[in-house]
Amino acid sequence: MAARGEFSSRTAFILAASGSAIGLGNIWGFPIKVASNGGGAFVFTYIILTFLLAYPILMAELVIGRYAKADTVRSMVAISSLRTRPLAAFTGYWGIVTASLILSFYAIIAGWMISHGVGSAVELVGASSNWFVTDSTARSLAFGVIFYLLTISIVANGVASGIERWSTRLMPVLILLIVLLIIYIATQPGAAEGWRVYVQPDFSKVLEPNLVLDALSQAFFSLSLGVGTMMVYGSYVSKSENLPRLGASVAAIDIGIAVMAGMLVIPAMYVAQHNGVTIYDESGNLIESGRLIFNVLPSLFETMGGAGIAVSLLFFVLMSIAALTSSISMLEVPVAYASESHSITRKKSAWLVGGFVFLMSVAIILNMGWLFDRVVQFATEFSEPLVGILFCLFVGWVWKRDQLLQEMREGSPQVEQTFFWKIWPTYVKVVCPLIVFGLLTRSFGFWEFVGQLVY
Ligand code: PHE
Repeated sequence: MAARGEFSSRTAFILAASGSAIGLGNIWGFPIKVASNGGGAFVFTYIILTFLLAYPILMAELVIGRYAKADTVRSMVAISSLRTRPLAAFTGYWGIVTASLILSFYAIIAGWMISHGVGSAVELVGASSNWFVTDSTARSLAFGVIFYLLTISIVANGVASGIERWSTRLMPVLILLIVLLIIYIATQPGAAEGWRVYVQPDFSKVLEPNLVLDALSQAFFSLSLGVGTMMVYGSYVSKSENLPRLGASVAAIDIGIAVMAGMLVIPAMYVAQHNGVTIYDESGNLIESGRLIFNVLPSLFETMGGAGIAVSLLFFVLMSIAALTSSISMLEVPVAYASESHSITRKKSAWLVGGFVFLMSVAIILNMGWLFDRVVQFATEFSEPLVGILFCLFVGWVWKRDQLLQEMREGSPQVEQTFFWKIWPTYVKVVCPLIVFGLLTRSFGFWEFVGQLVY
């Protein structure tokens, strides 16, 4: 078995795990859900749910990983009993499948982000960007290849000299870009209306079932839960670190960046509207989210003259960085398994597994019309919640309580006296599985069914 890596410091872990958490989900998904769900009301519910529900599951993944110091399959087996071993291994494998499925569609979108970025750069030197910003199979394939090459070469270099090195370089750039863009957009005419929508919550919507479920699934995806990413990253954390505190920092940073992305994208949408671009259709619904990012924002940038091209370039660089630090964490899940459980060198497993997932992306690109949405739905609405529930059930019902406590005590010897330890075990045991189950049932149309019965 290859030697295991470890993050060199607390900051390195926090940046890598935040890099995983902060992705297209924050900068694209979150603002759009805010805009279509009553503005600030969504933010309010989202923040509460992240701490109440997503954070406890994040902790479950981190603690399993750090206890076992192994890939997801062996980690799950390590906390199982003799009878539950097959289910534990299955859960680990299912996480690997889910991580690969998510990567297979995520990388395609990330490729489009890079191509829009390159398009802006090309325009900056006065050439035509048409090919780069127009949808085509050739474009998706070409930029898919580029994105995979970046992702694979980082993961191939291992935990310290690949994942950690690039996360610690890219995350500060990402934060700087967001801040610059927020400031610039805020000075544009029309931005004030966007800020108003964003900060004035429509409290009548806070408890709407659709909003709550949207917020929950957003929180889940955004913290990279239910695929084993956080478990694998947790397995590279030193025993001397205080896990509950590390997890809380990651959750807080993830929320912080999502809220900041809202300060950028929502005012930008209203600036676009001010400049004559349609963002809400006749029935008052927000236009489809893909068009919003790839059509509305670019047409907004066009109305800003020369500065617009630079703003566009920075925006798509921001998106590409956010996607890259997330995709490396997705690829790490199967790569850790291949290199640890099958004694293939890390380099070889990164290229083999990455190559295989790339082929999945090619299949999706060639069958865009019917396959893309299905893969997204299956992976994020069904698989992720299911694996998340299984992680919680194992921590809550199968793992021996004294072993769990002992692992938690590493790096936080006083944990037993904390508020965290008073509620967290019951939470992962009962509350999280039940509520995530509610999320899962949504993917079967269960709530529409109940609605029909009630009304
Ligand atoms: N959290 C990432 C985002 O918000 C997505 C992700 C999901 C990353 C699952 C890793 C694992 O974009």
